[in-house]
Amino acid sequence: MNRPQILIARAIFPEIIAKLAQHFEVTSNQDDVLWTQPQMIEQLAGKQGVFTTGGERIDAALLAACPALKICANMAVGYNNFDLDAMTAAGVLATNAPDVLTETTADFGFALLMATARRMAESEHFLRAGLWTRWRYDLFAGGDIHGATLGILGMGRIGQGIAKRGAHGFGMKVIYHNRSRLDAATESACQASYVSKEELLKTADHLVLVLPYSAQSHHAIGAAELARMKPGATLVNIARGGIVDDAALATALRDGVIAAAGLDVFEGEPKVHPELLTLPNVVLTPHIASATLPTRLAMANLAADNLIGYLIGNRPLTPLNAVGRS
Ligand code: GLV
Repeated sequence: MNRPQILIARAIFPEIIAKLAQHFEVTSNQDDVLWTQPQMIEQLAGKQGVFTTGGERIDAALLAACPALKICANMAVGYNNFDLDAMTAAGVLATNAPDVLTETTADFGFALLMATARRMAESEHFLRAGLWTRWRYDLFAGGDIHGATLGILGMGRIGQGIAKRGAHGFGMKVIYHNRSRLDAATESACQASYVSKEELLKTADHLVLVLPYSAQSHHAIGAAELARMKPGATLVNIARGGIVDDAALATALRDGVIAAAGLDVFEGEPKVHPELLTLPNVVLTPHIASATLPTRLAMANLAADNLIGYLIGNRPLTPLNAVGRS
């Protein structure tokens, strides 16, 4: 019997290619070429599965051009690169890679919060530039983390991980806003209180964004929301570009509307709004919140196991929709 054909759309761990090759005819992209959509469609000809990494757009046009496709397995927990409705309509299964990255990503969210509030990047650049000539009482004085109010917008698994770090590790008061309120036991485990978005913006000393990107969350933080935050507040975005209006944020940071921001994701990344690059009070990282090798390997294994589970055993591990054309 012919083995199913799959495409791995980006460079990936060699052991993942070897694992997939035990079950499939694999075409991989170890040169990590960023294919245009027509090139992607060409590569997908005759393939039943595709391993995506979160940046490859799967939409109605691509699905119509790839009738053999049965499953798209994202090596990311976020899946805003998938048009899920179009995939469901086309009978194509979507899977993501949740859970395995939760703690690593929460670690990074907390690291970015601390680096931002305590001005680590700005002060390190100062030192490297040879500008450090003496101690000074207010040199790079930042905002405290311990005892401060931590606001979390989007209280899924990663948000909860950040809440626990803040409450249990740093004695922070934790408040959150989410589409739906958590049950009492989860709130208690996170020591987190549910508040309105308005209250969250007004009260948080540090606001961390961990909500999924969608049409509804587009520019959830724009000029109006930034204006409601405390002037000394810090904002951290480890969710997705587009949740923050980056142009409005740059203006707010320049004008001192809020104190500082830490950003791991950007509108139109890998491009970064040029004004953000010129501001000292923003810490910028290249979408690396889940980037430890063990976690990236676990994410890749989960995406691979979804392909194997579905195309070989008809049993995906982490499906996002309830369809399939077998
Ligand atoms: C990373 O951004 C992910 O969604 O896994």
